[in-house]
Amino acid sequence: LTDTYSLNNGTQIPIVGFGTWQTPDGQVAYDSVLAALKAGYRHIDTAAAYGNEESVGQAIKDSGVAREDLFVTTKLWNADHGYDQAKAALATSLEKLGLDYVDLYLIHWPNPVAMRDNFEQLTADTWRAMEELYADRKACAIGVSNFRPKHLDVLLKTAKVVPAVNQIFLNPSDMEPEVVAYNQAHGILSEAYSPLGTGKIFAIPELKSIADKYDKSVAQVVLRWSLQHGFLPLPKSVHADRIEQNTELFDFELSEDDMQTIDGFHGVAGLANDPDEVDF
Ligand code: A2P
Repeated sequence: LTDTYSLNNGTQIPIVGFGTWQTPDGQVAYDSVLAALKAGYRHIDTAAAYGNEESVGQAIKDSGVAREDLFVTTKLWNADHGYDQAKAALATSLEKLGLDYVDLYLIHWPNPVAMRDNFEQLTADTWRAMEELYADRKACAIGVSNFRPKHLDVLLKTAKVVPAVNQIFLNPSDMEPEVVAYNQAHGILSEAYSPLGTGKIFAIPELKSIADKYDKSVAQVVLRWSLQHGFLPLPKSVHADRIEQNTELFDFELSEDDMQTIDGFHGVAGLANDPDEVDF
């Protein structure tokens, strides 16, 4: 879990992160982050919109893990696009987390409704603020989430810093080939939120027979598949045994055949994110 990828600015990022989307604030978030840090995770992914930054921050503090050994990501919410707003938003997140800096700060969504008439200007303004936060070392790296190529094209028109990361919904049932190819071509790491399809990949029966072959669980096989594609999976769980299980990914390797079989599940769990739902 301490193995790292190098981001495009040289920052090292632990290759599995602990996801906290849909983890309720309070005791549940606190306990699960503490369990994750105990199990050896050194990369925690949260967001202002998850509403759990205070509990996440408290667990980090109480874990006793040294700050320099940790990688913490949070995200700018839709209401906070714009130059001044972005700066204020990170300050608020840092205060809630009880941290002086985050390792990675992401724009959570490209296209909140309020931006639709003014997308190019607001994106440029928001990104300029992010670049300054990066220069001031309030964030060791900056990036985006849920961006499609056309959104990245707009951002890159005025960007001085290329995003280090694009965090997307990415799992065997929704492989986002165009986004992944775009990220790769631009040196942007593809992080996978909901790497287990929010739990829906367990409905694919063929995964169980592959898992049995390796004497691993379905979750472990799917997370391993994500790693072997060069993605950075961010599995979420609120159960200590699963949190630990999701770290045991480094004592086996999926064969090329099994990788291809799993690639073939694209769309089968009915998960493919419909971009039109969130697009404009
Ligand atoms: P829970 O939090 O109750 O453990 P994703 O990371 O794709 O969003 O998926 C998270 C979902 O998968 C949650 O419902 C989580 O449930 C469940 N989950 C996480 N890890 C495992 C595992 N190792 N085995 C079974 N279910 C898991």
